[in-house]
Amino acid sequence: MKRKTINDIISLKNTGTPAVVLTCYTFPHAKMLDDHVDMLLVGDSLGMVLYGYDSTLPVSVELMIQHGRAVVKGSGKALVVVDMPFGSYQVSPEQAFENCSRVIKETGAQAVKLEGGVEIAHIIKHLVELGIPVLGHIGMKPQHHNVYGGFAIQGRSETSKTKIMDDAYAVEKAGAFAYVLEAVTEETAIGLTQLIKIPSIGIGASARCDGQVLVFEDMVGMFEKTPKFVKKFADIRQNIENAIETYSADVRARKFPGKENIY
Ligand code: KIV
Repeated sequence: MKRKTINDIISLKNTGTPAVVLTCYTFPHAKMLDDHVDMLLVGDSLGMVLYGYDSTLPVSVELMIQHGRAVVKGSGKALVVVDMPFGSYQVSPEQAFENCSRVIKETGAQAVKLEGGVEIAHIIKHLVELGIPVLGHIGMKPQHHNVYGGFAIQGRSETSKTKIMDDAYAVEKAGAFAYVLEAVTEETAIGLTQLIKIPSIGIGASARCDGQVLVFEDMVGMFEKTPKFVKKFADIRQNIENAIETYSADVRARKFPGKENIY
């Protein structure tokens, strides 16, 4: 089976079947997820999830390239989208093209994701015109958390709702193939999904979005504390802890390695 393209994602808008998207940062995870999702997102959330930063802001283009390459290598069916880190695309369309083209060339990914709406529409347009597909990201934009004063839900006030609406129109008009809609009120998510022609990929938005994305590690229960919008579909942390306890006990009791593990 050949790898999905942005057209496969766009066409889901009218089929009524939501796009399944998960973040993915590594080769082994890509191998596991590839059969089950439409899109793998190499999110800059890897800065927090894998490297323990307090936010996504310290992530570099080099780091995204390293992880993007591993995810492309481990997958063959899902569309791979790489997040562009803070500061790597906002300066000018030229700066954005320089960094995004590096990401596409050096990872083999099919598209990039940029956070922002009206203020970066000219950048999205430039990239798309020059051959780089863009996934937008509006609503709560984690790279803007210092401006919000936290990771706050967006769309509660009329001003905020209007801003998100303007951002969605701007991203669509600029040529993005879809957009992530993060941490907004359900009313906002439903309204946008009905009005905007490109697919909405919700996270903390609504089941009526055209697709859903979650951070893989959140979804499998790696962390104790997660936002309300995360559903834990497994308790992987407990499973790993159980395995480590059994391993330690077996090593200390000289039960491991057993006969079947030695030459
Ligand atoms: O960085 C990321 O993982 C993301 C998703 C949570 C949408 O932007």
